[in-house]
Amino acid sequence: MHPEHTAAGNELKRGCGRAAELIAQHSSWRERLGILRRAPHSAVPRLVLASFASLPPAVEAVRCEIATPDRYEDGLTELAAYLSRPTPVIPAERRGLEDLLAYQRNSSGTIGMGDLLFLHAFVNVLAPDRVVEIGTLSGFSAAVIADAVAQHQRPESESVVVDTIDLSQRCLTDQKKPVGFEIPQLVTHLSSRIRVHAGQDARYVEQIARAGELQLVFIDADHQHPRPTLDLIRVSRFVRPGGWVVVHDIDLGSLGERMRAAGTPFDYGAPFGAQWLFEAWPFEKISGGNIGALRLPSHVRDLVPFALAMLRIPSELEPIPTRRTLEAFFAAVVDLM
Ligand SMILES: C[S@@+](CC[C@H](N)C(=O)[O-])C[C@H]1O[C@@H](n2cnc3c(N)ncnc32)[C@H](O)[C@@H]1O
Repeated sequence: MHPEHTAAGNELKRGCGRAAELIAQHSSWRERLGILRRAPHSAVPRLVLASFASLPPAVEAVRCEIATPDRYEDGLTELAAYLSRPTPVIPAERRGLEDLLAYQRNSSGTIGMGDLLFLHAFVNVLAPDRVVEIGTLSGFSAAVIADAVAQHQRPESESVVVDTIDLSQRCLTDQKKPVGFEIPQLVTHLSSRIRVHAGQDARYVEQIARAGELQLVFIDADHQHPRPTLDLIRVSRFVRPGGWVVVHDIDLGSLGERMRAAGTPFDYGAPFGAQWLFEAWPFEKISGGNIGALRLPSHVRDLVPFALAMLRIPSELEPIPTRRTLEAFFAAVVDLM
């Protein structure tokens, strides 16, 4: 029977948006085997089992939107309660966050205000030692994360607070400048504690983190499906069990559709990759609007059936990048097993 018409198919669909429907629509054994045919031969026997394993029942995302600065404190309290962490004390002087908010109002290509506030609050509550970011651009979100991480450290500390990785050497929105070029002016006092790794992708995390070390990774790179899922799979071995991955643009695809319907499509397109990843995620998750936090399972190998299920959603890439991404995807999945 087609999974769409089974209890499992119905479970997948409940509260999970279009991603789960797309997965269910492409779940025949023929389609699953068709995907596995692209995997390395030596891995196929193990992958077959994972490809036909049932996914954990879908979960609804907890919602915590922090749309405006006056909601920041409430947002902190809600996130702290949800994560069972102490609510961080807000310093009387909040220059860092205020400056970043002022900068955000005049910038393009970087995360929006609600996303900035959620990201800052989430990092503030989780209080990780450092964060790895995939997708630097000018360095704005790296500065936001650095400001929140540093709040929990001694002012004289010199440890790295953010490692930010970008495939490009040049900032896409200002090709004359290198990626991360705005960091020194945005967070001058922290810029020596932010390392920019230009010309690299998520595979580079292996060079800068030990397995199971990181408390949090932020993914905001290529949003075309299945690349956000590939980034997540690549970094997950380096996140501690039950750690978190925050993903940006989890509403971008729907926003693009709404804009197209209103006659004002985006210049750079509005792919669904991050949105489908968030919607289909079968473990704990928190939605901050267009940004969301995904909690990794205790064993990263439990991600394998989910990762293979995501491949059933048609790729948003052109045929040649799709083929290369699939090869990379299978290599990353095999590393989880
Ligand atoms: C949306 S921008 C990041 C914005 C940034 N996080 C901010 O809010 O300030 C996406 C960035 O990801 C980079 N990128 C694209 N594909 C990538 C990949 N596979 N790995 C790492 N970076 C990638 C692009 O060069 C671009 O700078």
